[in-house]
Amino acid sequence: MATTTAAAYGALIASLLLLLVAGAAADDGAALLEVKKSFRNVGNVLYDWSGDDHCSWRGVLCDNVTFAVAALNLSGLNLEGEISPAVGALKSLVSIDLKSNGLTGQIPDEIGDCSSIKTLDLSFNNLDGDIPFSVSKLKHLETLILKNNQLVGAIPSTLSQLPNLKTLDLAQNKLSGEIPRLIYWNEVLQYLGLRGNQLEGILSPDMCQLTGLWYFDVKNNSLTGEIPDTIGNCTSFQVLDLSYNRLTGSIPFNIGFLQVATLSLQGNKFTGPIPSVIGLMQALAVLDLSYNQLSGPIPSILGNLTYTEKLYMQGNRLTGTIPPELGNMSTLHYLELNDNQLTGSIPSELGKLTGLYDLNLANNSLEGPIPNNISSCVNLNSLMPMATS
Ligand SMILES: *[C@@H]1O[C@H](CO)[C@@H](O)[C@H](O)[C@H]1NC(C)=O
Ligand SMILES: *[C@@H]1O[C@H](CO)[C@@H](O)[C@H](O)[C@H]1NC(C)=O
Ligand SMILES: *[C@@H]1O[C@H](CO)[C@@H](O)[C@H](O)[C@H]1NC(C)=O
Ligand SMILES: *[C@@H]1O[C@H](CO)[C@@H](O)[C@H](O)[C@H]1NC(C)=O
Ligand SMILES: *[C@@H]1O[C@H](CO)[C@@H](O)[C@H](O)[C@H]1NC(C)=O
Ligand SMILES: *[C@@H]1O[C@H](CO)[C@@H](O)[C@H](O)[C@H]1NC(C)=O
Ligand SMILES: *[C@@H]1O[C@H](CO)[C@@H](O)[C@H](O)[C@H]1NC(C)=O
Ligand SMILES: *[C@@H]1O[C@H](CO)[C@@H](O)[C@H](O)[C@H]1NC(C)=O
Repeated sequence: MATTTAAAYGALIASLLLLLVAGAAADDGAALLEVKKSFRNVGNVLYDWSGDDHCSWRGVLCDNVTFAVAALNLSGLNLEGEISPAVGALKSLVSIDLKSNGLTGQIPDEIGDCSSIKTLDLSFNNLDGDIPFSVSKLKHLETLILKNNQLVGAIPSTLSQLPNLKTLDLAQNKLSGEIPRLIYWNEVLQYLGLRGNQLEGILSPDMCQLTGLWYFDVKNNSLTGEIPDTIGNCTSFQVLDLSYNRLTGSIPFNIGFLQVATLSLQGNKFTGPIPSVIGLMQALAVLDLSYNQLSGPIPSILGNLTYTEKLYMQGNRLTGTIPPELGNMSTLHYLELNDNQLTGSIPSELGKLTGLYDLNLANNSLEGPIPNNISSCVNLNSLMPMATS
């Protein structure tokens, strides 16, 4: 008797749960139809968004058990129109991918109600307005990609409160103000992409607080001041791109502690000599120091960078001779030393660089013949040895 009652209760509870689940799922269907309403240009791509079974609609992925919408992927469908606030009703969403459409308008505040979300990718649209503060409520957020939109305003410092944020890519927008210093205290952040905005202020000495950050790109902003001495603690960096800002001062000696593969400092206002310690950065594949105001000689120890494929030092005030040691850079493909004040003759050791595609030595004060040996550089596409004037 007792067991039958228990079984009956069990069945009742099960069917109640099923009803609840079905109810929630039906709500998700209604929310999706609201979301569809604010898109334009849906005729060809969201034609199957009708009927009861929203889990079978294009771009919709449901949880196998609850049938709630877990992922929405409408990337690259030429969608226009706006992102509806109704998206906030999809409480079980783990991932939203709307990249590469023509969406306009603002990111709705209600996005902050999608409390389960881990991945939000709205990149390559025409979204404008601010980054809503409500994003900071998304405690499970791991990946936030908003690059290539028209977003304005400041980077909310509350983004630093996202305990799981690993990837923050806000590149190619119109963001202004300073990079919030608190960002650097987020312990899990690995990727910080801020290229192509209008960010101002200095590089914080806190930028190397994080042990996990490997990608740091602030190219093409309006940052000022010097590279902080603490840069020597950025030992996890693999890519450091500070190019095309208004940074000044000399390149700190501490930079030699980094084991980056890419070091891009071009297009700033750096002065002083190229520190020899750069020759110890054995992992360097790309070293770009071009278009600064660097002076003094090219350190011969750079010849020890045997993994470097691209060495750009053009457009500075470098003096002295071209070190023959550069002929030891056996994987070099690009060597650009033009627009400096280099003297002496072209070392024939450069003939050892058989992988060279491009060699530009123009607009220096070099003299003597082009060594016959350069003809060993069988891959050379472009050779600009002397001044064109
Ligand atoms: C849902 O089902 C699909 C297809 O059978 C399977 O690949 C996926 O792992 C399942 N997901 C969960 C959360 O069980
Ligand atoms: C969305 O779909 C595209 C195309 O199938 C795929 O490349 C992309 O990885 C998907 N996005 C997510 C977040 O899974
Ligand atoms: C910097 O950004 C501006 C505006 O987006 C663009 O026109 C310019 O080409 C960019 N410069 C570099 C070096 O990327
Ligand atoms: C690097 O970090 C250590 C430990 O946090 C600290 O003692 C040291 O002063 C830092 N070095 C620089 C150059 O900031
Ligand atoms: C350059 O590399 C060679 C061979 O690996 C090494 O013997 C030499 O000490 C290095 N030079 C410097 C200044 O580290
Ligand atoms: C590098 O080049 C210089 C001059 O060409 C040469 O004397 C030296 O032995 C080379 N070092 C290595 C490690 O190959
Ligand atoms: C030569 O290089 C200097 C920079 O070192 C530059 O200012 C000048 O315009 C260049 N001249 C030519 C003809 O390109
Ligand atoms: C000329 O180039 C060859 C490689 O093709 C190299 O072995 C030789 O050392 C070079 N000569 C000089 C003087 O550097």
